[in-house]
Amino acid sequence: MDIEILGRALSTLPADDEHPYRTGPWRPQTVERKADNLDVVGEIPADLDGVYLRNTENPVHPALEIYHPFDGDGMVHVVGFRAGKAFYRNRFVRTDGFLAEQAAKRPLWAGLAEDPRTSPTPTGWGARGRLKDASSTDVVLHNGVALTSFYQCGDLYRLNPTTLETLGKASWNGRFPSDVGVSAHPKLDEHTGELLFFNYGTEAPYMHYGVVDPDDNLVHYIDVPLPGPRLPHDMAFTENYAILNDCPLFWSPEALAAGKYAARFYPDIPTRLAVIPRRGQTADIRWFEADPTYVLHWVNAYEEGDQIVLDGFFQQDPEPPAGNGTLYQRMFRFLDNQLMGPKLHRWRLNLTTGLAKEEPLSDTVSEFGMINGRHGGRRHRYTYSALSKPGWFLFNGIVKHDGVTGQEETYRLDEGVYASETAMAPRVGSQGEDDGYLITIISDMNRDVSECLVFDARAIAAGPLCRIALPERVSSGTHSTWAPGSAIPQWADRDDPATAVHL
Ligand SMILES: [Fe+2]
Repeated sequence: MDIEILGRALSTLPADDEHPYRTGPWRPQTVERKADNLDVVGEIPADLDGVYLRNTENPVHPALEIYHPFDGDGMVHVVGFRAGKAFYRNRFVRTDGFLAEQAAKRPLWAGLAEDPRTSPTPTGWGARGRLKDASSTDVVLHNGVALTSFYQCGDLYRLNPTTLETLGKASWNGRFPSDVGVSAHPKLDEHTGELLFFNYGTEAPYMHYGVVDPDDNLVHYIDVPLPGPRLPHDMAFTENYAILNDCPLFWSPEALAAGKYAARFYPDIPTRLAVIPRRGQTADIRWFEADPTYVLHWVNAYEEGDQIVLDGFFQQDPEPPAGNGTLYQRMFRFLDNQLMGPKLHRWRLNLTTGLAKEEPLSDTVSEFGMINGRHGGRRHRYTYSALSKPGWFLFNGIVKHDGVTGQEETYRLDEGVYASETAMAPRVGSQGEDDGYLITIISDMNRDVSECLVFDARAIAAGPLCRIALPERVSSGTHSTWAPGSAIPQWADRDDPATAVHL
């Protein structure tokens, strides 16, 4: 393995840090590296061509008082594949907040678990305001550029998808909605090249929806009026519609009136699902009511006759009891999938009757579902999801759900080994929906290493086809994406795709 250090961030974290999400599998990194000629056990498939991008929260300063795992600065990892070889890079996203705190050598914003009024900086980002936009949640490729995003809304940072150099912020022909920002989980339609997005905040109309064309121009942006401030996290789309949501888990209005941000579940309020023609107006929005729950992530949606089929993860208990645990145990119960019990679920929205029907698809607690991106907005059969370690935001297995047979195939990692969100990479020349590979980065606490694992998507229980060594044990993370080489400018033209893509 050839390793070169690209940069080092200033860290003021204590050497004897005891925070559960800044130690162990969540130990952050301060060094940025490039590594080529990675050591491989097994063989990298020659028809795996493109990049696996993964974002994470990677703090370099302590919080003012209480660190929440979603406060950390965005760091993206890339493992690129071409012709049976792999390369790796990790870089911080050069957000305004990261750069300002590097210069100041201390935290300048209050975190998610802290009172915004205590923030040393009077301005900021986020649906609730005065947060640091860490751009640490999600990553997606659009118009040949990797875009990182922040779940509380903020800028979209543009990164070179192979070098991870920060190229600036999305401006969308000068129409980027900087007043509200953009939420995590903008959706790429691989068939049209469009990017669909939403945002949310504490001021009416509380949500907006928009479309960016394949050439990076904002071409559509409308109000989506809600009854009050909500906490939507994800959206879905079909060939002709965008689907937004108003779930009954949101900031308590009473607490909000007192300046506090406390998410509460309201089990007597239905879940509402909005169906909007992709270029439709506010007046075209149709709302469907369904059983109360909170859906953190949708899997996909598609049209079937006069129905929209929408798959996502129905939480059995969106607000688990706080109990008498420690502060961390109470705070982090919202990170414990075993407590909230998300399970794969299907909603059918009938455009003729205006009614929603729903049914569970699985008894397995899972989340962070991925599909073959070519099926985004189109009928899909296979969902690849993460299994979670009880009590933790850590993924300890992968489950493939077959939507036709209902069968599931599982790969469990060894105790002490944790995966990332696992992306599906169609094989070059792919002939079927699951004709490709699953890719994940693991953090192995037993061997103190990280590896990138590649599975045959048709045989995940057989274990990885290859294990690719990374230069350092990396922090667990949140979201990931697969971008085929064909979607990256100049990728195919250059001898070395790791360094030669210039944007
Ligand atoms: Fe997410």
